[in-house]
Amino acid sequence: MIITVAHSKGGVGKSLLAWHLAIGLKTPIVDLDFQKTLVYTNNLRKANGYKKLKIIQPESPEAFIELMDEWPEDKHIIIDVGGFDSNLNRAAIYISNIIITPAVDRVTEMAGLYKFHQIIDELSNKMKTDIKADILLNDVSPTAKDFSVMEDLVENLKHFRLMDTIVAHRADFYKTMEEGRGVTEIEGKSKAKKELKQLIKEIKKRG
Ligand SMILES: Nc1ncnc2c1ncn2[C@@H]1O[C@H](COP(=O)(O)OP(=O)(O)OP(=O)(O)O)[C@@H](O)[C@H]1O
Ligand SMILES: [Mg+2]
Repeated sequence: MIITVAHSKGGVGKSLLAWHLAIGLKTPIVDLDFQKTLVYTNNLRKANGYKKLKIIQPESPEAFIELMDEWPEDKHIIIDVGGFDSNLNRAAIYISNIIITPAVDRVTEMAGLYKFHQIIDELSNKMKTDIKADILLNDVSPTAKDFSVMEDLVENLKHFRLMDTIVAHRADFYKTMEEGRGVTEIEGKSKAKKELKQLIKEIKKRG
């Protein structure tokens, strides 16, 4: 199953979620972002005595498509897409089995989501298919309970579906990453770990 974390807007938590998902699912990551956030985090992982993740950085769009074409159905892989629109990022969206789009429940985020929906709509029309992205509320306030703004938006955009899992703003997500670890590697209780495990469960169910 090819799982792509995508949004044309930057800074929504794509790389953070891709990282923790890859550790939780024990899968390789394809890093399509020129900022190479995850390569840096992987070096920290090694420095802290953990086995590095497999991070694939395709040399060309053709190399990427070829790799994905041959990807076995029974194996998972995570793709971290850059926060911008490009043919390569559109290719990743098109070839995935599941698209996770992190979004914060704020009115100011809506324009970015409309833009991303428009990209998916264009791509769906061009490829004569109906692409769906699963909107994941991420980085929300741990005390927030009313997500009606996002629920209303998603209901009105045909290529979007809202995920049941909600990921809150939690220090465990970035603190573990700063050591090259994943939240699923935390020993003992962690709300971040619990949320990530729930996300994995939902992804498997949807896939
Ligand atoms: N659930 C969360 N809890 C705490 N911090 C978070 C959470 N999600 C994202 N962040 C923080 O938000 C910032 C942006 O996250 P990240 O780099 O993953 O975004 P991105 O979508 O990959 O950005 P870009 O498009 O620039 O690659 C980071 O500092 C990250 O630690
Ligand atoms: Mg990123």
